Amino acid sequence: MKKDDSLIFVDEVKQTEDLSDQFKDYWHLLVVDDDPEVHAITRLVLSEVTLLGKELKLHSANSSQEAKQLLLNDTPFAIALIDVVMETDQAGLELINWIRKVKKKLNIRLVLRTGQPGKAPEREVITNYDINDYRSKTDLTSMQLYTLTCACLRSYRDITAKKVAENENMLKSTFLANISHELRTPMHSILSFSELSIPLLTKMPASRDVDKLKRYSNNINSSGKRLLILINNLLDIEKLGTDSTNFIPVFSDFIDIVNDTLAEMEGFLFDRLIQVNIENKSSDTRVWVDPTLMLQVMINLLSNAAKFSPQNSVITIDITDIFKKIDSDVNKVSQAVLAIKVLDQGIGIPEEELLTIFEPFVQSTATKKAMEGSGLGLPICQKILSFHQGQIEAINLPDKGACFSFQLLKTENIE
Ligand SMILES: Nc1ncnc2c1ncn2[C@@H]1O[C@H](COP(=O)(O)OP(=O)(O)O)[C@@H](O)[C@H]1O
Ligand SMILES: [Mg+2]
Repeated sequence: MKKDDSLIFVDEVKQTEDLSDQFKDYWHLLVVDDDPEVHAITRLVLSEVTLLGKELKLHSANSSQEAKQLLLNDTPFAIALIDVVMETDQAGLELINWIRKVKKKLNIRLVLRTGQPGKAPEREVITNYDINDYRSKTDLTSMQLYTLTCACLRSYRDITAKKVAENENMLKSTFLANISHELRTPMHSILSFSELSIPLLTKMPASRDVDKLKRYSNNINSSGKRLLILINNLLDIEKLGTDSTNFIPVFSDFIDIVNDTLAEMEGFLFDRLIQVNIENKSSDTRVWVDPTLMLQVMINLLSNAAKFSPQNSVITIDITDIFKKIDSDVNKVSQAVLAIKVLDQGIGIPEEELLTIFEPFVQSTATKKAMEGSGLGLPICQKILSFHQGQIEAINLPDKGACFSFQLLKTENIE
């Protein structure tokens, strides 16, 4: 046969590729067949076709050996249409095993096209070889070839996107795990040394320079503390991720979690002269929670309430039993839950920002300028509560102040 100009043969690959072509993004499709007619027909049906936003580029190999050479290049092949009988009766099948098992190319969609179905019985091949489709050449009309290519490209695109996302996620997690130690260690020494230098400076004879140095040390210390909170929050939100592997729920008494929160925040609340009232209207406060994560939620909510409230004000933690209506598969059921509210007498939240404050790094326009913070506390709370099959919401109180509420399950799971 006269070589068709539009066919790309192995030995011509380098020459035929125009330079500008190298920078173009294509779907690469490999046709492996010892019958030139098959290449010609495939090209007729699929050349100059644009699918899912990209042009198709066809590559041709006349034997499984030629195919291997092409597959060893960097070309990201999306699909290979492979004939069974070529150099040998099993050449196509061997090529498939080489691609999947030896070269571990798992993304490429492999379609077996055979002219002699007897040589490779469909059932046996589908069971034993890692292929994505099996077609008899005679059955494959041009429309079917087009449809098959489209379907394969979609699945290749989805698999590749998922792999890319998984890889990025893994890289990010490894990076953060490694960097977390590297970030925290110097931060701790910055904090300790700035703290230690203040009493030393106090002992020195008073002068303007000593005063300046004290101010500098205090600034280093308070900025360092803010940075450490930000680093910890960033690492927390990353660690929580989207999967709930760190979520270990057990039956815990919510009152114990409240008491632990108050113990942890004693100094913070005392400095701000803020009183906390617990209004417990429930007879049984045991809930199905991860106590460590729930402590983190309560600390975030209480520190926000204290941060955005005036001195001498009161924060109320309201605990009530309620029955929540849930649509199960069969009918409506009631689920016993503990409803928690944290109410403060602070500045409240602008109505149109009641939802956006749950987004990472967002702070309300009422508080932005005045208060320090990372804007990650509420997204962390929201994520933790989603593991508990719950959600958190904010409203403003009629008089003044904000109210954050969420619910916790009293039983292990929703039926
Ligand atoms: N109790 C509250 N009263 C008023 N505003 C609040 C309250 N809690 C949260 N906010 C607003 O929501 C923003 C986001 O809160 P958060 O995610 O905990 O971040 P951060 O506390 O680091 O600023 C706060 O900056 C503040 O603007
Ligand atoms: Mg906060």
